[in-house]
Amino acid sequence: MDCIVTGGAGFIGSNLVDALIARGDQVAVIDNLKTGKAENLAAATAAGAVLHRVDVRDAEALGAVFAQVRPALVFHLAAQIDVRSSVDDPRADADVNVGGTINVLAAALEHGARRVVNTSTGGGLYGDAELLPTPEEHPVRPLAPYGQSKHAAEGYFALYTRLHGLSTVSLRYGNVYGPRQDVHGEAGVVAIFCGCLMDGTTPRIFGDGHQTRDWVEVGDVVTANLLAAQSDITGALNIGWGQETSVLDLVRELGAAGADRGLRLAAPDFLPARAGEVSRSCLDVRRARTELGWTPRTTLRDGLDRILSGLL
Ligand SMILES: NC(=O)c1ccc[n+]([C@@H]2O[C@H](COP(=O)([O-])OP(=O)(O)OC[C@H]3O[C@@H](n4cnc5c(N)ncnc54)[C@H](O)[C@@H]3O)[C@@H](O)[C@H]2O)c1
Repeated sequence: MDCIVTGGAGFIGSNLVDALIARGDQVAVIDNLKTGKAENLAAATAAGAVLHRVDVRDAEALGAVFAQVRPALVFHLAAQIDVRSSVDDPRADADVNVGGTINVLAAALEHGARRVVNTSTGGGLYGDAELLPTPEEHPVRPLAPYGQSKHAAEGYFALYTRLHGLSTVSLRYGNVYGPRQDVHGEAGVVAIFCGCLMDGTTPRIFGDGHQTRDWVEVGDVVTANLLAAQSDITGALNIGWGQETSVLDLVRELGAAGADRGLRLAAPDFLPARAGEVSRSCLDVRRARTELGWTPRTTLRDGLDRILSGLL
C-alpha cells in the first residue's frame, strides 16, 4: 500500500515507518528535519522509503509529493512539539500544528487518500483532569498553546470527515517513550534518565517525584496507528498505558534495569516543581481496547530494557 508519513524522520514517525516497510508498504516521508533526523530512516530508506524534505506549511511542495505518491494511507505526525516554545510563540506553533495540518488534510482529500490518521496528545489536552484515568469525553482544557493547537487540528480532522466524507481518526497519545526518543520530546524524561544511567550523571526531578504520567511504549503506539488505519472509527481515541506511574517509580524501574546490566543510577536531585505542569496524568484507553482491539503490551520495565539494549 502507498503511504505518506509526515514527521516520519522523528522519534515516533520513524518507528512507524519501519513497521510499514516491514509489512511491505511503499512509504514516502514528509519532514523538514526540524527535530527529526535522516539517520532515523537509514534502514527504511535502504529498504525503499523515500524522504522528501518538505515543510508541511508549504502547501505547494506538500501537494506535489501527494500528487506523485497518491497515498492510500496518510499518517500525520509532523508537529511543533515543544510545549515551552509554544508558550513563547503561539503563532509559530499554530502555523505548523494548525496551518500545516490543514495543508495535509487538503492534499489528502485532493489526491484521494482512503484514510488519514492524526496524532494528538492526551496529556496536552486534558490539563489538570478531574477524572483519572481520563476518558475522551472529558472537557479539553489545555495548559499551553501546544495543546490548544493540537485540539484545533483534531477539530479540522473531524470537520473534513463531516464536510468532505474524508475518513479520519485522531489518536491522543500519553507520554510516549522508546528507542530514538530525543531528550527534547514531550516525554523526554525517560530518555534523559536513560542518559543519566549511561553517563553516571544525577537525574533531576522537578517536584517531589510523586507526580504521575501515562508512559506508553512506542511499539504499542505504532500498533495503534496500524490498527487505526485499518478501521473506520472516527473522532478521538486515547492511546496510553492506562495506569498512572510516578516519576519515582520510573527511577526505581530504571535503577533495577540498569543494575541488571552492572550500571548504577545515581540518587536523584529534587528541584522545585515547574509551573504549568500537571501533577497527575493517565488516560482511559477503553475505547481503543473495545473499538480498535488495541491493548498496550509493553510494561515500563520491558520498554526500558529495550532502550538500554539499544544503547549498550
Ligand atoms: N512523544 C510524545 O510523548 C508525544 C505525546 C503526544 C503526542 N505526540 C505527537 O506525536 C508526534 C510525533 O512526535 P515525536 O515525539 O516523534 O517528536 P519528533 O520531534 O521526533 O517528531 C516530529 C517530527 O515532525 C517534524 N516536523 C516538525 N515541524 C515540521 C514541519 N513544519 N514540516 C515538516 N515536518 C516537521 C520534525 O522534524 C520531526 O521529525 C507529534 O505530532 C507530537 O505532537 C508525541
